[in-house]
Amino acid sequence: MQGLLELAGVAYVGSGVLGSAANMDKVMSKVVAAAAGLPIVKHLAVRDAPVDEAFVERVGVELGWPVFVKPANMGSSVGVSRADDAAGLLAALAGAHAFDEWAVVEEAVSAREIEVGVLGNAVPRASVPGEIVPTHEFYDYEDKYLEGAAEMVVPADLPPAVAEQARELALQAFTALRCDGLARVDFFYEEGPGGRGLLFNEINTMPGFTPYSMFPSLWAASGLPYAQLIDELVRLAAERHAHRAPHRRQR
Ligand SMILES: Nc1ncnc2c1ncn2[C@@H]1O[C@H](COP(=O)(O)OP(=O)(O)O)[C@@H](O)[C@H]1O
Ligand SMILES: [Mg+2]
Repeated sequence: MQGLLELAGVAYVGSGVLGSAANMDKVMSKVVAAAAGLPIVKHLAVRDAPVDEAFVERVGVELGWPVFVKPANMGSSVGVSRADDAAGLLAALAGAHAFDEWAVVEEAVSAREIEVGVLGNAVPRASVPGEIVPTHEFYDYEDKYLEGAAEMVVPADLPPAVAEQARELALQAFTALRCDGLARVDFFYEEGPGGRGLLFNEINTMPGFTPYSMFPSLWAASGLPYAQLIDELVRLAAERHAHRAPHRRQR
């Protein structure tokens, strides 16, 4: 979609081709996040090919059970499942590979889910963090869309230093992962002794945008109500378009 808009020379809201594609892919986004020095969960990328016993063993040794298995290119928790053992892993991989050639196997973390809204282009700014409290075993499709059951806490109840760090990491991720305009940056927060604190999970470059969704709620709580948020997104799209137009004409 972004490529089509680029070819047409049309101004559009949000990330360009690379940022949109990189963040859609849970393997590539982790590669970039790790290279940028962001803390992430232990994981293994798997291409759709028969997995052997050596791989199953690697999962046990490097990640430990249980694990989360996800298609690289999806969202809304579609194709995401938890596996407790080798048999579960094979079933989960088959499920994930039904949606994408690439899948990712991750260590399962016991963590809170913290999300930050980011707005801007070259000089982005971060909202207050919010928290998702799933009612299911994890934040799955039903929890997200069907029952409206998962609770959203805005702002998240976090120690000020952790909230500040979440905002700082969100800005770093936004820039490293080539985002423009808007993005919602999602983290796991491992609390307590032995916890690793904030771990980058993923970026949504087109986050849910109903008046009740997390992204607009985060900005409303940060002093930017819905209508003004939309004005700002349009302004940012025009700003980037104007900035890039002279370069395009030179080619
Ligand atoms: N490594 C993990 N450990 C524990 N829970 C996880 C892990 N990965 C995902 N989950 C749970 O599954 C949900 C969906 O996974 P996520 O990576 O956010 O994919 P999606 O793009 O579908 O939102 C998360 O919100 C979280 O509740
Ligand atoms: Mg998610």
